[in-house]
Amino acid sequence: MTKRIDTKIISGGRNKRWTKNTVNPPVTRASTVVFNNTDEMKHATQNRGDKVMFYGRRGTDTHFALQQAINELDGYAGCALYPCGTAAIAGSLMAFLEAGDHLLMVDTTYEPTRDFCDKVLAKMGVTTTYYDPMLGADIARLVQPNTKVIFTESPGSITMEVQDLPAIVEVARSKDILVMLDNTWASPLLFDAKAHGVDVCIQAATKYIVGHSDVMMGTASTTEELWPQLREQSYLHGYCVSPDDAYLALRGLRTLGVRMRQHETNALEVANWLAARPEVAEVRHPAFESNPGHAEFKRDFNGSNGLFSVVLNCGNRAATNAMLNGMEHFKMGYSWGGFESLMLANHGTPGPRSATQWQADGPLLRLHIGLEDTQDLIEDLEAGFARFHAALQNS
Ligand SMILES: Cc1ncc(COP(=O)(O)O)c(C=O)c1O
Repeated sequence: MTKRIDTKIISGGRNKRWTKNTVNPPVTRASTVVFNNTDEMKHATQNRGDKVMFYGRRGTDTHFALQQAINELDGYAGCALYPCGTAAIAGSLMAFLEAGDHLLMVDTTYEPTRDFCDKVLAKMGVTTTYYDPMLGADIARLVQPNTKVIFTESPGSITMEVQDLPAIVEVARSKDILVMLDNTWASPLLFDAKAHGVDVCIQAATKYIVGHSDVMMGTASTTEELWPQLREQSYLHGYCVSPDDAYLALRGLRTLGVRMRQHETNALEVANWLAARPEVAEVRHPAFESNPGHAEFKRDFNGSNGLFSVVLNCGNRAATNAMLNGMEHFKMGYSWGGFESLMLANHGTPGPRSATQWQADGPLLRLHIGLEDTQDLIEDLEAGFARFHAALQNS
């Protein structure tokens, strides 16, 4: 029978092998797994890569339930779990790159991803070229004979450029290059990475999968062909997560659909209100026509979420500090994807850029719109702008 995505979110990984007689799987904590006899031990050893309990680092039934749930949702053959999204990115790159290889990395990637390329991969003899997120088929110009991976992140961190994934995948396919995607913003709900030909799909599950701001976790999903390599490399690096965290991630996942739709509705309402404000020069939200890559967003994505940015046409640090310091509902924090609203200000280039140049006169505010009443959020922002102007006049 057909299972649509909301059904998959609810039923994925809910298999009696993991859940026994309850709705959710028990939290199975283990380092040592004990076997009743040598046959059982042999069976576990031979099948340790295939969801059979062998030793705690390889996972227990709680982890297997989460891995299966994610794969039922994203359609890939296997899913490796990592202690955070950054580890999933590092682990995926390390699994497929070796000394002498070349990597094409999107210029607007999450800053620690860039740092990993510059400070770890470079040391290991992997060279990186940063590319403009708006390059589609033209990315072919940057391909070198030793290019092994094209890494994408769409929309881009903070500035929200949406990439032309199908065009990039087509170039990669013709040259035997792997495409990796940091799909944290969209999650499997808003962007179907597998259907778009992405080879390795990474998520900071810390954000929308967990959804409650209380667990760090990363996932990397891949195809039948690549799974043995990703799985073994992840295992060799010793990546593992606690079963309690796996349980919480699975529990968060079950409400992904309803949360995401409410984040989308709330964020669009607040973004439209902000677009009409005199201080706002530009809204960086993929669903806005003015956002770079809006046509690709409409073509490839199934909707949006709570995270977007606005560029202001005036203001300085004193003004944004006055705004942020008095917010009641918006909290300040470097994350997003939980049920709560968050906000931060950025002055100058939002994260390092080398292939593109950020041009904006005023500061940028990044907002994560949570599940509060939007009228309360708008009133909070309105009072924030009043403090912003008062500080601007005094500075
Ligand atoms: C787009 C994106 N990818 C990856 C990460 C890293 O996730 P984690 O904080 O779990 O390492 C983040 C964190 O903010 C992110 O925003």
